[in-house]
Amino acid sequence: MSLPNPTPTARAVVTGASSGIGEALAADLASRGHSLLLVARRGDVMEELAAELRTAHGVEVEVRACDLSDREQRSALVGELAAREISVLCNNAGIATFGPVSELDPAYERAQVELNVVAVHDLTLAVLPGMIARKSGAVLMVGSAAGNMPIPNNATYAASKAFVNTFSESLRGELKGTGVNVTLLAPGPVRTETPDPAEASIVDKLVPDFLWISSEHTAKVSLDGLADNKMRVVPGLISKAMSVAGQYSPRAVVAPIVGTFYKKLGDD
Ligand SMILES: NC(=O)c1ccc[n+]([C@@H]2O[C@H](COP(=O)([O-])OP(=O)(O)OC[C@H]3O[C@@H](n4cnc5c(N)ncnc54)[C@H](OP(=O)(O)O)[C@@H]3O)[C@@H](O)[C@H]2O)c1
Repeated sequence: MSLPNPTPTARAVVTGASSGIGEALAADLASRGHSLLLVARRGDVMEELAAELRTAHGVEVEVRACDLSDREQRSALVGELAAREISVLCNNAGIATFGPVSELDPAYERAQVELNVVAVHDLTLAVLPGMIARKSGAVLMVGSAAGNMPIPNNATYAASKAFVNTFSESLRGELKGTGVNVTLLAPGPVRTETPDPAEASIVDKLVPDFLWISSEHTAKVSLDGLADNKMRVVPGLISKAMSVAGQYSPRAVVAPIVGTFYKKLGDD
């Protein structure tokens, strides 16, 4: 098993490519020779990245500025992806909220579900028929260690990532033997930028520097895992510890412990 070979017509799609893990996935795919289609809301930021990647790697890079939580904007992209030769899809774009869900903005919580869940479902269903017909394709689902456990004060996010984790690993079973790889990335904390000490969150303060993993490392091990058709990639020690705790501890025990910790994140 491997990633589909890059061709001039095929595109690797990365959602949430304007920062963090998505930007690193785009750069790593370009360095492997894949031409790209980048998706996020900030078109100007992605145009800058696209110019850099074209120059550095000689690949084609297209940019689609799209709010994936908006059904109308998303449906235009879904139509385009269904009609094109998409070799790789990285469902990476995602947001999180912290605090009791009853006190959060209902519209933003709904947008979170649209982005983290419905858009992932829509984009995947758009590209699968073409991948299956070509007997070649690769889908990276960016879930989270948070999707393995109940997390009071992070309820919408944890539930949305539970969907991604389970969808990815279920789909993988359906696609066995089709030539289409599906891999779940389920990280714990990934340091996407160096925090300003004055604005560091409680996670930044509690987790020592050597335990943090970078977006670049996360992108590399994820794409290597996708090429090897691994079921799940869990990068770094904290992610692995969270993963084990989430999967093997009784949920009634885990919930109040992590809920207390996430309450502090909500208060931050
Ligand atoms: N960093 C971590 O510790 C960590 C841990 C576990 C899982 N994850 C998951 O990894 C993924 C990437 O996280 P990250 O830390 O790299 O986040 P990030 O730096 O905040 O990047 C999020 C990306 O999603 C895009 N995005 C946000 N809302 C969007 C919308 N409505 N429509 C289209 N694009 C949108 C953003 O671009 P625009 O603002 O330009 O739209 C940005 O490119 C997420 O799914 C996250 O849940 C992260």
